[in-house]
Amino acid sequence: MARIIDGKAFATRVRALVADQVAQMKKETGIVPGLAVILVGENPASAVYVRNKGRQTVETGMNSFEYILPADTTADELLAVIARLNGDPAVHGILVQLPLPGHLDADLVINTIDPAKDVDGFHVSNVGLLGTGQKAMLPCTPLGCLMLLRDHLGDLSGLNAVVVGRSNIVGKPMAQLLLGDDCTVTIAHSRTRNLADICRDADILVAAVGRPGMIPGDWIKPGATVIDVGINRIKSDGRAKLVGDVDFADAVRVAGAITPVPGGVGPMTIACLLANTLSACCRANGLAEPEGS
Ligand code: GUN
Repeated sequence: MARIIDGKAFATRVRALVADQVAQMKKETGIVPGLAVILVGENPASAVYVRNKGRQTVETGMNSFEYILPADTTADELLAVIARLNGDPAVHGILVQLPLPGHLDADLVINTIDPAKDVDGFHVSNVGLLGTGQKAMLPCTPLGCLMLLRDHLGDLSGLNAVVVGRSNIVGKPMAQLLLGDDCTVTIAHSRTRNLADICRDADILVAAVGRPGMIPGDWIKPGATVIDVGINRIKSDGRAKLVGDVDFADAVRVAGAITPVPGGVGPMTIACLLANTLSACCRANGLAEPEGS
């Protein structure tokens, strides 16, 4: 049976560390890190995430600024909000919740955020820095996955890593981070041929496709480390349930270690967002960045 990687407990430790560092900063300098989150429209899943982010930001001792805008907000109106936040010294991190309503161009919106405040790491400047191995603001979900992998495996050098999914939010930056840790990286996606065989070659398998249970146990190399990024809402026996992209009951018998859903990668995302906000605040104020950030 695989070891269950407890992302919830790990995230709690990361948040406690960030809270200590925020308290120390406040005491020594009077500066309080601030995170602004913008939600456009009424996507129910997004509304839950935004609420959780706001709550955990405050629990960590930071200032939370929430902008809940109507679904028919124009691009000009949204860009004006971002421009104001870019210029506000009390705001160190800006996050625009995705997906945006169809009439808004997500690339344009994200690239309007000051890269120094882009705590999601989605601005092309940060994407480019990551891609060229330079210091960048790192996307929160892939960063959380990398932290879990390093904690479980130690040195990742030379391992075969397969990332299933090629989104800008998870798949592509995940592959870059694994490459940065000297893995041999394959990015697979919906058009990939022989996906089962490619997955079976993985020492590290990261599933980020958003299709419930699409990876069965017999696609997993015995002893592999499986990171399941999927958060899929399904109905099972008439009840709503959250499941990952990996068939957990099947995979847990084959893998060496696996993240559960819920309680695996999910909680790490917000923990990394808070850590990124603290780092951005340190840099904005010329302070040393906290250890381990
Ligand atoms: N939607 C799903 N995941 C994310 C994320 O990490 N950041 C933002 N801004 N939107 C998301």
